Amino acid sequence: MSRELSRTRFVNISDLRQAARRRLPRMVFDYIDGGADRELTLRENCAAFERVRFRPRSAVATPRCDLRVTVLGRELALPFILAPIGSSRMFFPHGEAAAAREAGRAGTGYILSTLSGCRLEEVKAATEGPAWYQLYLVGGRDVACAAMARARAAGFSALVVTIDTPVAGLRERDVRNGVKELLTRRLGTMAPFLPQMLARPRWLASFLRDGGLMSFPNILIDGVPMGYADVGAALEQSAVSWADLRWIREAWQGPIVIKGVHTADDARRAVDTGAEAIVVSNHGGRQLDGVAATLQVRPDVIAAAAGRPDVLLDGGIRRGGDIVKAICLGARAVLVGRAYAFGLGAAGGPGVACAIDILRADVVRTLKLLGCASIAALDGSYVAAPPEWPVPRAPESPAFR
Ligand SMILES: Cc1cc2nc3c(=O)[nH]c(=O)nc-3n(C[C@H](O)[C@H](O)[C@H](O)COP(=O)(O)O)c2cc1C
Repeated sequence: MSRELSRTRFVNISDLRQAARRRLPRMVFDYIDGGADRELTLRENCAAFERVRFRPRSAVATPRCDLRVTVLGRELALPFILAPIGSSRMFFPHGEAAAAREAGRAGTGYILSTLSGCRLEEVKAATEGPAWYQLYLVGGRDVACAAMARARAAGFSALVVTIDTPVAGLRERDVRNGVKELLTRRLGTMAPFLPQMLARPRWLASFLRDGGLMSFPNILIDGVPMGYADVGAALEQSAVSWADLRWIREAWQGPIVIKGVHTADDARRAVDTGAEAIVVSNHGGRQLDGVAATLQVRPDVIAAAAGRPDVLLDGGIRRGGDIVKAICLGARAVLVGRAYAFGLGAAGGPGVACAIDILRADVVRTLKLLGCASIAALDGSYVAAPPEWPVPRAPESPAFR
């Protein structure tokens, strides 16, 4: 496959989503695309960006735009980081390594999920950019400590602790597509759900070449990687609590990012644990359906964080304009999830590169149209948000850069 996807065919992230839908079996596409329950939060995450309007400064020449941001004290070339996406290896062979490689080439960061199909050492070796390790406590404390030690030794520079997953949300599409049945590996149970895989021979061939149904090589139970089928139950037995953050900090001894904050109280608790960054996140609408869009809860979280940890935000970002809006509204940078996962599912590394390219070009164009020369110069004066959403204006907002 050539490295570059045609930008006349793939104009926006929605085009990559359609291509992913064509290449992936329904169960894999829906695993990426779907959310929990009635998918209200999934939709609202996206819709919230539509409620924010730009306020450009016209007749301002911005021949060059500076997209750099500093997160956890490290400069990134782009204001977005690739979010942890479990089981990316199902989308494309060595998917996690492919995505990390493209993030590094673009000068930005990649966050590797605990639920990775690739060994964490392979993923770190694939990228020249910063890599952070996302932690679930599946398998218990000793298993988590062993993974953290490996991640540190491999060069992961921060630990992302996800706190919104005491149990997996009910992703109804996964249930209907027979994800659980397919994981049993018993032909009789799997049979009704096999046609969706057979309908995508190109994907199936690459999936089988890559090892077929896999395990998680960074969750080692007595030296054996945990199988896919065991993860749901293991997640439930290993909900992370604020008390866990104490031993996690001792075990990791590096920067910690707390992901899944969407109230002021939790932001304050995260600050108390000494977190270096927090991510305003509802897991892309895959966990508790009915929580508000991240863009909407952001003012409370930013106020409670009081300028101490870096505040990042994710959920619903499908265009570079969304990234610019989130930053105008006080986020230091954002994470993108599905936007690059669709690219990975559509075409592997080149698909991720295309997603990054689309978002980068969007951000540059948006800055030029706003009459703003850099991400660092954005503030609340460039947007109008619904009246009930406070808009930060430097220098009033303590969290504002
Ligand atoms: C298919 C899929 C798998 C995910 N797996 C994880 C995971 O393993 N760990 C985690 O912290 N978040 C996970 N997330 C949540 C993302 O990290 C991120 O919070 C979310 O995708 C942001 O929303 P967006 O997809 O609308 O950009 C996953 C999201 C998706 C779509």
